[in-house]
Amino acid sequence: MSDFSSRLIRWQRTHGRHDLPWQGADAYRVWLSEIMLQQTQVATVIPYYLRFIAAFPTIAALAAASEEQVLTHWSGLGYYARGRNLHRAAQIIVEIHRGEFPRKYEQIAELPGIGRSTAAAICALAWHERRAILDGNVRRVLARYRGIEGWAGEKKVEEQLWEQAEALLTLPCRGRGGEGAGSLKSNDIATYTQALMDLGATVCTRSRPRCAVCPVQADCVAMQTDRIAELPTPRPKKAVPERHATFLLLTHGNDILLEKRPGSGIWGGLWCLPQFEDEIAARDWFLRNGMEARDGERLATFTHTFTHFKLHITPLKVELARKPLRVEQVGSVWLEVGEALGAAIPTPVRSVLLQLHRRMGGA
Ligand code: ADE
Repeated sequence: MSDFSSRLIRWQRTHGRHDLPWQGADAYRVWLSEIMLQQTQVATVIPYYLRFIAAFPTIAALAAASEEQVLTHWSGLGYYARGRNLHRAAQIIVEIHRGEFPRKYEQIAELPGIGRSTAAAICALAWHERRAILDGNVRRVLARYRGIEGWAGEKKVEEQLWEQAEALLTLPCRGRGGEGAGSLKSNDIATYTQALMDLGATVCTRSRPRCAVCPVQADCVAMQTDRIAELPTPRPKKAVPERHATFLLLTHGNDILLEKRPGSGIWGGLWCLPQFEDEIAARDWFLRNGMEARDGERLATFTHTFTHFKLHITPLKVELARKPLRVEQVGSVWLEVGEALGAAIPTPVRSVLLQLHRRMGGA
């Protein structure tokens, strides 16, 4: 039986994905795709990636854009710190690396938003450098293939997985344009890296993995010990905290009031609806800002799930007869609802605004 990496490379050539828009692209595009793919699936990422590249075709263009423009293109993808870090990293690349994406792993890993696995993936995919990766999909593949127990969030489990990721990387490889003999192509590391990702995404899936078509099932420890369903060991169950919030939909004609969030924290730098713990707090705010406290219309409560908690959101719609001057402070803006939908807003704000837009007869 040939080794793990050779079987994966062979499998990738016929069964892997070959039509992803960032495959074979330059380091900037590979970097962007890896950041977008950190917490989001390929099918969701593709349209965002294409629009982002059209808007910011070079690192210099990205660095020169405002954070607002960048977040507008990230709007809906979630985990906005990724977008803010990407923007900061582009500015660092312009300042320190003269706008050229750095060539060295250590320089790449120093950029904001790039961890060990992402830096390695960029090196392997863009520079054809031999580096082991360990993203979420690969953790699952290796936990099963090597029969590694324990939740990957624990340091010692993570270390074991990294050891395996390194140990399985047996293909000899040269850097792009480097020297070396043998029949291996210099991009075998890119094929291998993509194969690991694709195997995790399409065969060694979390539920109902397709072991019958897996190229490494013959020596998969989970398969041999009948532990496919148990591995990888899930995160220990902890009750997810639940919180409630009232989103204030303050409208005047077709306009709505939005507030910009501070730069860090949840939805940092994005335009949001004024948010309160409950309806009473919303009404207090109202009074403090010299607005007539009318009855609002409560819309249906919906839930937005974050990694660490659930937020139950009740939108409260209040129509004003005239715009109060006092809320027009720095960080607040009145926008026409259709226009607000094109701004840098998070997904739950988008859902509420879409509802409102439809009611107002918008397309
Ligand atoms: N997930 C993370 N990186 C990926 C890539 N380059 N292709 C497909 N899925 C991925």
